[in-house]
Amino acid sequence: MNATAQSDNSQASLWNGPTGHAWVASQALLDRMFLPFQQLLTEDIPLGSAMRVLDIGCGTGAVGLAAARRLSAPGHSLGIDLSEPMIALARSRAAREGLAAHYVVADAQTHAFAPGEFDLLLSRFGVMFFDDPVAAHRNLRHAARPGAELRCVAWRGAAENPFMTTAERAAAALLPTLPPRRADGPGQFAFADRARVHAILQDAGWTRIEIEPIEVPCSLPESDLATYLGRHGPLGLSLQDSDERTRARVIAAVRTAFDPYVHGDEVRYTAACWLLRARAPGA
Ligand SMILES: C[S@@+](CC[C@H](N)C(=O)[O-])C[C@H]1O[C@@H](n2cnc3c(N)ncnc32)[C@H](O)[C@@H]1O
Repeated sequence: MNATAQSDNSQASLWNGPTGHAWVASQALLDRMFLPFQQLLTEDIPLGSAMRVLDIGCGTGAVGLAAARRLSAPGHSLGIDLSEPMIALARSRAAREGLAAHYVVADAQTHAFAPGEFDLLLSRFGVMFFDDPVAAHRNLRHAARPGAELRCVAWRGAAENPFMTTAERAAAALLPTLPPRRADGPGQFAFADRARVHAILQDAGWTRIEIEPIEVPCSLPESDLATYLGRHGPLGLSLQDSDERTRARVIAAVRTAFDPYVHGDEVRYTAACWLLRARAPGA
């Protein structure tokens, strides 16, 4: 699968830079933590089916790989992502397992998919980063065969997901320059507003739109918590430029704020998300 041109935007810089490299370093940790979403998206793909599946914003590949494990030729999955390092890892995982999972480094908002190329379009947290979400979802709809399903998970709001913002709140006094989360642009919580998401999908031409709130239990080993805090979110990003002493001091201070989530050797929290489903018109 050839790479195609990608737009020179800040998301491409982030995901090809520190954020993407952090996701590569944490692939096992994040895939374990987000396994329930992978299962939710892929477990009803019939075993041995010949579906053509797109994984939007596929990152290091978990969802497209899980889909491909259920498919038989000519069925296959294609993962699309802006991030070279994340796709490189996804490709090596697919090769290791000998799966019909292919990848393209490209912007899903503008990539020239073949019309009607996919029977099922999936995404685990990969659709909140478009600078023009209507244009992006319209482009994805063109890639869907008539009647094909779009099935994505996206975060609800920051207030409903306190685990995700605990680190930056706890570090605010130590790191006053920490950039605030933007609620109005591409980012983790860009799909928080249900009415806005509905309008995006509708304006992009999707039909039979369902937006269901889901509460999903997630967990990670307590022994991975400091690593997670030091790599991810606004805190992790800002600590990438800090010296070891500062990192250790900030993480130790922040770690206690996570005590309510620690149960023995596990960290547990509930992710408040949307399960988005829609259909391409015409079937
Ligand atoms: C939160 S990560 C999720 C990765 C993966 N779906 C997973 O669950 O492990 C978001 C992903 O969306 C990708 N992304 C952001 N904007 C994109 C765009 N315009 N086109 C393709 N991928 C994009 C990022 O590079 C990143 O890999």
